[in-house]
Order: sequence, then C-alpha cells, then structure tokens
Amino acid sequence: MQFFKIASLLAAAVLATAENTITFISQDDDYRTLYFTGNPGMTEIKPVQVQGLTNVTVDIPYQWIGNFFAVVDGQPVVPGMLGEVAFNSWNGITFFDVSAIVNPSDHVGVKVMWPVDSPEPFSGCDLFPCNFAYYAPNDVQTRATHGSDLYCTLGTSPHDLLASRSLSEETLDAPVFARDFVQGRWASKN
Ligand SMILES: *[C@@H]1O[C@H](CO)[C@@H](O)[C@H](O)[C@H]1NC(C)=O
Repeated sequence: MQFFKIASLLAAAVLATAENTITFISQDDDYRTLYFTGNPGMTEIKPVQVQGLTNVTVDIPYQWIGNFFAVVDGQPVVPGMLGEVAFNSWNGITFFDVSAIVNPSDHVGVKVMWPVDSPEPFSGCDLFPCNFAYYAPNDVQTRATHGSDLYCTLGTSPHDLLASRSLSEETLDAPVFARDFVQGRWASKN
C-alpha cells in the first residue's frame, strides 16, 4: 500500500517537473539572478542564479502564468525587460513574449525567447529596440507554440547566438496574439 502511494507520488512528481521548461542561455560572463512573478494563485518559482556563459533550465509548473526578469549581480533588484509566459493555456497552447513596457532601459537582461523545437516564432531583440517586443500595451506581439519548452537568451555578446537570425517569411507570417493571451486574460473577453 505504502509502496503504491509513494510510487504514484514519484510518478506525479516526475510528470510535474517534466511538464514545462525555460532554458536560459547566458551570452556574456556576468552572473545574474532571475526573479519570477506569477499571476495570483500561481505556484511560487524561487529566484534562480545563472552564471555567465552557461545554460540553466528552470522547470515551470503546469499552466503557470507570469513573468520574469534578470538582474546582474551587484545591481539593484528592479524589474527590467520582462519575459512573459502563459504555459498550457488557451487550447493547450503556450504563449510567450518579451516586454519592454515596464523598463525599456534594461538592455542587459532578457533578450529573445523562442520554442526549443523551432527557432521560430521568436519574441524580443538581440539589440533593443526592435520590432519584435512590446513597447505599448496595445501592441500585438505575443507568440504561440504547441511546445512546452522555451529558450530565453540573457545579456549581450559580440557573437550573439541569434545575431545571424534572418527574418524569413515564416517569422513575419507567424501569428501574433494580443497581450491578454500571455496574461491569461483571454477568457474574460468572452
Ligand atoms: C546553450 O544552448 C544553446 C542552444 O541549444 C547552445 O547553442 C549552446 O551551445 C549552449 N551553451 C552551453 C554553454 O551549453
């Protein structure tokens, strides 16, 4: 009996941790801390440290909606460029975007997000400002994927991983959604 309880707990735990991830790719040698803010009722995600020039994968709970920003060690902890996510949301789709609405002057934090299984669609900029991030709430810049694993670059590099990204037709044609979708507010519109 005990065995089965524990086995099912373990199985559930494995499922829960395997559900969603964001892999942060540090592109310079600064140390940073990532701060996560969930919508009301979301599971807390503790701050995560990312050493320079490393990749760190963070498990994100099922259907988690919220945002995150990165702070370089020694700098004040104030929100910067935001990565915004709504995992397993409307129709099971995961929504994501990079937003400069709160602090457009942060050019050393969150840069570009895209699904692990495809370089497109992406949100954000290797070099801010660009046309692929939020600057005003009524912009329409949220991206969507059926995948549940995302990449997010941090910091700057003369050899940005994505600097050679060419803006293909597919990128420009990929659907964009209103910010409500990444904030979990699409339902209240019905
Ligand atoms: C981080 O991940 C990216 C994308 O998969 C890869 O190109 C890069 O080599 C990785 N960097 C490290 C330090 O593992």
